[in-house]
Amino acid sequence: MKILFVTSEAHPLVKTGGLGDVAGALPDALAAEGLDVRMMIPGYPAALERAERLTDGPDLGDPLGFGRTRLISARMPGGVPLWLVDCPILFDRPGGPYNDASRADWPDNHRRFATLSWAAAYLGKVGDGKAWLPAVVHANDWQTGLAPVYLKQWRGPGPGSLITIHNILFQGRFPRAILEEVGLGPDLFDIDGVEFHGAVSFLKGGLRFADRINTVSPTYAREIQTPEMGAGLDGLLRHRKAALSGILNGADYAIWDPARNPNLIRNYDAETVAEGKAACKRDLQMRMDLAPRPEAPLFGVVSRISDQKGLDLVLAVADRLVEAGGQLVVLGSGEAAEEAEFRRLAEARQGSVAVQIGYDEPLAHRIQAAADALLVPSRFEPCGLTQLYAMRFGTLPVARRTGGLADTVIDAREPNGTGFLFDTASAVGLWTALERVFALHADATAWQAVRQRAMRQDFGWTRAARAYRDLYRKTIETAN
Ligand code: ADP
Ligand code: GLC
Repeated sequence: MKILFVTSEAHPLVKTGGLGDVAGALPDALAAEGLDVRMMIPGYPAALERAERLTDGPDLGDPLGFGRTRLISARMPGGVPLWLVDCPILFDRPGGPYNDASRADWPDNHRRFATLSWAAAYLGKVGDGKAWLPAVVHANDWQTGLAPVYLKQWRGPGPGSLITIHNILFQGRFPRAILEEVGLGPDLFDIDGVEFHGAVSFLKGGLRFADRINTVSPTYAREIQTPEMGAGLDGLLRHRKAALSGILNGADYAIWDPARNPNLIRNYDAETVAEGKAACKRDLQMRMDLAPRPEAPLFGVVSRISDQKGLDLVLAVADRLVEAGGQLVVLGSGEAAEEAEFRRLAEARQGSVAVQIGYDEPLAHRIQAAADALLVPSRFEPCGLTQLYAMRFGTLPVARRTGGLADTVIDAREPNGTGFLFDTASAVGLWTALERVFALHADATAWQAVRQRAMRQDFGWTRAARAYRDLYRKTIETAN
């Protein structure tokens, strides 16, 4: 089965969050299941630099009038074949994949991601000129939402299309005026097309025209069909219910394994977790100017800072957490006002709270190893990966019962518990869970049992890859 997996980020080429992790791991796992999967990603400078074995691929001419576009054929560092969409005027610039250094969205994002979507649809329709023609184009999030739209517009035989929703809040909405610019006709500006509240929505287009839709956990697949959590697209999703499913993401244990992680001062497994984590905690306390207190429960946060992640709740309970004898270490970046509040907190609580604003991959691993518990108080969470990494690192997740968090963490009150869940998105809700963390942590034997159980959970990608293989089959059936 030939699959074209198209994405706007993929670890280790470019990553801003969980989509990068998924795109860096799922294609490998699909290949291991015998699928012929190839990827497509924009030719950002970092991607051109980090991809391997670059050679010329098909020349696409100037498809939408934004500039000369070629495909460069390459390999992911892990070996999966890859096409880089090389259009320097759109992609060759410093800054992030979606925004500039001052965090403003690139003003031409509609052109950039229409071009990515167009290139994927084109390859899906006509192949690479060397007899490689995918049976399914697998789009991910709004940046690739127009791929299913182009495919349905170009009549005649073509591949099936699947779109995965990693986060329904990001929809890629642009003014009406861009519709013709991205090569779509005015007839699509309709409730049955790409129109959404008077604007053009790339995600809506994908959800409307893809043969199949899925999201990254079974619970989130149900939640996005409700007005509370569907971000305006719940009606469409209820309408397309028969085509919608949820597949839980996996964790890439080649990267997220404390027994071989190169970022840790001491490697450990479930047998050696107590000594291993004690060493990692000492190391992190030193690096981050926290008091060297081995017995203090250390709470970690590794997160984007946005309303979704509910970190205002962490700010609201931080004083109590410190007064109860805990320590807090935060690594995150995002909304400037909340970043500033975390900085002020660290200033006021020196020795007990350490905050690093920014993106730091090695530090993310060190925190996962050093902390006793990881705070994930998300308002919504399509899947969430940090709680999976935490469990493998013997760090108990404290998570809100929503989306993929509800599907992966078992509360310690259950006989097979692996973490702590709370329901109400409020300071009281989180604090009530934290009281249970302090109580369990005081009982070393009980804590060790839960921690070892968490470490032995298997959220590897194989299960998810098999579920995607079945979903690709259904996608092909639906398309024909
Ligand atoms: P989301 O995709 O919504 O941000 P996930 O839990 O799915 O949430 O994935 C987040 C990924 O990004 C994880 O790999 C996590 O370690 C990483 N991450 C988040 N914030 C940072 C940061 N400030 N520095 C380094 N890694 C981060
Ligand atoms: C999104 C979601 C996150 C999910 C990730 C990968 O960024 O916010 O919950 O884990 O995508 O699917």
